[in-house]
Amino acid sequence: MSVSVVVWDDRHGLTDRLERLRGTVTVVRRCDELTEVVALAETGLAHAALLAGDTAVIDAASLDALHRLGVPALVLTDDLDERRRLSSLGAGLESTSAGAQSIADLLELLCGAPPAPGGPRDRPGGDLAAGPAESTAPGRIVAVWGSGGSPGRTTLAVNLAVEAALAGQRVLVLDCDTYAASVAVHLGLLDESAGVAQLCRLADQGVLDRPGFERACPEVAVAGARMRVATGLPRASRWPELRSASLARVLAYARRRADLVVVDIAPYVERDEDLSFDTAAPQRNAATLAVLEDADEVLAVGQGDSVGVPRLVKALEELREILPDAAARVVFNKVRASSVGHAPERQLRETWERFGPSGAVAGFLPWDGEAADRALLAGSALAESAPASALRTAVAGLAGTGVPRRRRLLGRRPPANVTFPPAGG
Ligand SMILES: Nc1ncnc2c1ncn2[C@@H]1O[C@H](COP(=O)(O)OP(=O)(O)OP(=O)(O)O)[C@@H](O)[C@H]1O
Ligand SMILES: [Mg+2]
Repeated sequence: MSVSVVVWDDRHGLTDRLERLRGTVTVVRRCDELTEVVALAETGLAHAALLAGDTAVIDAASLDALHRLGVPALVLTDDLDERRRLSSLGAGLESTSAGAQSIADLLELLCGAPPAPGGPRDRPGGDLAAGPAESTAPGRIVAVWGSGGSPGRTTLAVNLAVEAALAGQRVLVLDCDTYAASVAVHLGLLDESAGVAQLCRLADQGVLDRPGFERACPEVAVAGARMRVATGLPRASRWPELRSASLARVLAYARRRADLVVVDIAPYVERDEDLSFDTAAPQRNAATLAVLEDADEVLAVGQGDSVGVPRLVKALEELREILPDAAARVVFNKVRASSVGHAPERQLRETWERFGPSGAVAGFLPWDGEAADRALLAGSALAESAPASALRTAVAGLAGTGVPRRRRLLGRRPPANVTFPPAGG
């Protein structure tokens, strides 16, 4: 078998050394830039890439691109941290002092061996230095998705997360809405740091470890519970920062650090390459699709009225075309008799059974403008600002936690000069 290799940064005279072997490995191109290596791999001329340049430049994006093209990468480095980082990104490794024959053997092996891990799902999370994870059972990922028109995805995501945190789970909220991130607003966080972009950057560099994770998604106290929050992009134009491969790594890592990962995502799922035929370019909705693909559960939120129901039907049809395996459960929000008539839940359920895609309705959340407004105004969860409200009770029901008795009491606001709970109580 002959192996055509592209070499990046021939500082060790690799090309000459490999060619002197007169073996199966042939150098087809020497490149000065890593981007040239990927471009050459796209032409199909190289079977493998030998990367001998400054390893700090090698990120997950380049390695992912090579993996996607079926071109394994062999990196020469002696730096232990870099070896750890690059192996977590799926690269093959050899020492800079290795002989030409051993490099050639390895390249042959990489080309003949089963394909290198094709994507982040196959790879470790890159936290080799962080010691054992906090939990061995991987956490659940719940994607809160739904139709356009602001049906209440963020309201549901944030409050589901809070209910789970109140029930004692270790919870992480990730704001991956690349069109209109608003978890920070809902939680009253004055935050421009785009924690989710920080997480993706760390994952991209293969250095997503515990300290970095904890810096990017600090703990916030909500309604007496604590949960981690990675805030979203402050500007929609920053969407390319959430690459699907990086996000998939972040999700894999997050599962190890939380029992429940609630991800707020945008409603749009269409793929741009259908329009542009450019499959290598970043995709506008890649982050949404990556989350939908990896989620254990998708909650599809629709507004319970004559605009919201058909929108949700279309959104689910689109989702099914693109990701046939994504199992979405429907949640109707803002449910009210004034928009659909007497017994609105029954009306919606029957309408859904007749016109909706298969699958039962998972829950109904009532219209509760007062509670929703109070929570938004205070920048806090319903459990804090409207603990006894109908909306909070319904969200807690959907979370499967129910409203704790003590929390119900909090709804009756104590007089201003009395602290609650009473001291010693
Ligand atoms: N059950 C409800 N009753 C009344 N108002 C609600 C209810 N749920 C949410 N709202 C309000 O609807 C508005 C939109 O809610 P939210 O931000 O959760 O929607 P979204 O689907 O995330 O929107 P976006 O498209 O911006 O992501 C907010 O003002 C929120 O307070
Ligand atoms: Mg939202």
